[in-house]
Amino acid sequence: MASFKLGLFLFALLFVFLLLSIPVHCGGDEEDSVFKGINSYRQVQKLTPFNKVPKASCLAEEVAEELEDEPCENVNQYAPGLTSSSKIPNLQKHIDKCDININTTIDGAILPVCVSKLEPTIVLSNYTHTDRYSRYLNNSVYTGAGLGSEHDWMVLVLTTNTTTGSFAASSGATCVFGNVVVLMGFLMLLGLFM
Ligand SMILES: *[C@@H]1O[C@H](CO)[C@@H](O)[C@H](O)[C@H]1NC(C)=O
Ligand SMILES: *[C@@H]1O[C@H](CO)[C@@H](O)[C@H](O)[C@H]1NC(C)=O
Ligand SMILES: *[C@@H]1O[C@H](CO)[C@@H](O)[C@H](O)[C@H]1NC(C)=O
Ligand SMILES: *[C@@H]1O[C@H](CO)[C@@H](O)[C@H](O)[C@H]1NC(C)=O
Repeated sequence: MASFKLGLFLFALLFVFLLLSIPVHCGGDEEDSVFKGINSYRQVQKLTPFNKVPKASCLAEEVAEELEDEPCENVNQYAPGLTSSSKIPNLQKHIDKCDININTTIDGAILPVCVSKLEPTIVLSNYTHTDRYSRYLNNSVYTGAGLGSEHDWMVLVLTTNTTTGSFAASSGATCVFGNVVVLMGFLMLLGLFM
């Protein structure tokens, strides 16, 4: 009986470990190298590098998922998208899903690119070497950023540090609350067996 309990405990431990180690999303390597490249560009322009803003990354990921099945030719249709005048489908829904107060996205920008296999140097040069996008990267108004990618699409979301572009949370800590509920449920389950 004791060994059964021990086995169960180890199983539970493994479960927690797996739960904690699930990555938030994939495609991280390209995103990391593009993010670094964009910040190097900022430094060359004598601008402060972008801070990573988790809510901007969340929205970028959502928009990348929305666009993933679109052909690359359509990129002009969606770019550059200031959040308040964007043609990106279901944008409001995605903003809500990321728990962002829509009033704090007005000054933000959404910059999608579509590059076969997301070759990082081509993605980066799309951001830094096209007038369409470099004027955003050249602009000191933007202080934060998030990247998301899906298939051939990468999306850069830029934020400001003003109240109309900070991408602040819409409500309290729904996410933390959700995690606490999951954890409590798990502990109760564990308690049943121990
Ligand atoms: C956003 O601004 C509008 C108009 O000022 C206001 O009615 C609304 O409640 C605000 N939304 C949030 C989530 O704060
Ligand atoms: C931007 O991406 C497109 C699609 O992959 C590519 O054809 C184009 O050469 C890129 N432009 C720059 C300036 O990197
Ligand atoms: C951004 O700055 C670079 C370097 O100063 C310049 O070559 C590029 O034309 C600028 N882009 C825009 C759209 O002004
Ligand atoms: C916004 O960021 C700039 C540059 O980092 C800083 O100088 C300024 O004080 C910040 N403003 C606010 C309201 O935080």
